[in-house]
Formats: sequence, structure tokens, C-alpha cells
Amino acid sequence: MSQQKKSDNEVTIREHVFDGIQEYDQKLPNWWLFTLYITMVWFVIAWFIYYQTTLPTLTDHERIDASIAVIEEKKKAELETMLASLSDASLQEMSTDATHTGAGKAIYETKCAACHGLDLTAKLGGIQLPGLPLNDSEWKYGGKPLEIMNIITNGSPDVTKGMVAWKTQLSPSEIAQVVSYILSKQPQT
Ligand code: HEC
Repeated sequence: MSQQKKSDNEVTIREHVFDGIQEYDQKLPNWWLFTLYITMVWFVIAWFIYYQTTLPTLTDHERIDASIAVIEEKKKAELETMLASLSDASLQEMSTDATHTGAGKAIYETKCAACHGLDLTAKLGGIQLPGLPLNDSEWKYGGKPLEIMNIITNGSPDVTKGMVAWKTQLSPSEIAQVVSYILSKQPQT
């Protein structure tokens, strides 16, 4: 190969030819090199922090999950306190809280409306449904909130009637919410 030679515009041509292509030997621009070095340095720092330390390097996803978990925990704790202190009075109070009655309504409509009617009258278009009306303040098994809760939890003492124990399908808090919904539908006295 011939000695390296300078071309007219002072660009060095390297000595070798590869596949018929001659290579210029220009210096890379400093800004480009600088960027490259920064990424290298940053790689080492990031690698070290991510893999070698226990610094909190959570992804956005994990961060959101963590905050949701905290909120869920708090809600659960509140609900547990509420259940522990469950009484006629606290159930009455729940019946004025749209969060509970709303949740109760949703449960009622999927699990209970078939027999007790969407409007709690135990009627559908004039036809009597199997259940008893739940909005007439007349109670076969007692109308105290805890009594209503008990019949829903444990079912009717008369197993031939078809009112099953819902404790296998609903959690105590869900049953409390259904009770709060039923209470909210009682005629106001
Ligand atoms: C398969 C039909 C059926 C379903 C579904 C059903 N019930 Fe009943 N429920 C009955 C029947 C029948 C009775 C009356 C039982 C009796 O006379 O012993 C009753 C009784 C009751 C009572 C007592 C009423 C009173 O006057 O003392 C309550 C409260 C009640 N149900 C709530 C619910 C709730 C809440 C749900 C949903 C979680 C539900 N029921 C789902 C059929 C049903």
C-alpha cells in the first residue's frame, strides 16, 4: 500500500482499502465524543445504583402499586375497625354513607334482587317473587340492623324457604354494606 497522503482539503486517507473503499481518518467531533463518554460514565453509575445498592429504584409502575397497597391497607384497617364495632347504631350510620350503600346496592342487585326484587318489594311487574319485601319495615325475623345482618349471614332458620346463608359468598363487610343499603331503603319515620 502506498504511503498515506494528504488530499487537497487536508483530509487524511488511511492506508488500507476495504472492499474497494478507502477510509477517511477524521477526528470525531468533541461534542459527539463527550456525549459518548457521558453515557459510559452514566452506565457505570446507573448499573451500580440499580444492581449493587438497595437505594429505592422503583419503576413508576411499582411506585403506583406501592401507593395503592398503602391505600388498600388503610381502607382495610378502617373496615376492620368498623366491623369490630359493628352495632345497630353503626349499621344505621353506614346507611347514611353513600359509599357503603352504593357498594351494598351493587351486591344486592347481583345476589338478592332475583328473589327480593330490584326495588326491594319482592315483586316483579305485579308477580310475587320468592323472597319477602325488604322495604316495608315489617320483619319476620326482626328489624334491628344486627338481626337483619344475622339472617343474611346465616340464612333463614327455615331451610325450605330458600334464603341461604350468604357468609360463604359474601364477606362480613359486604354483608354489612348490603344491610346498610336495605336500611337506607326503609320508609322514613
Ligand atoms: C333464592 C331466593 C333468595 C335470594 C337470592 C335471597 N333471598 Fe332473602 N329471603 C328469601 C326468602 C324465601 C326469605 C324468607 C325466609 C323465611 O321466611 O324463612 C328471605 C328472607 C330474607 C330476609 C329476612 C326478611 C324478614 O322479614 O325478616 C332478609 C333480610 C333477606 N332475605 C335478605 C336477603 C339479601 C340481602 C339477599 C342477597 C344477599 C337475599 N336475601 C337473597 C329468598 C331469597
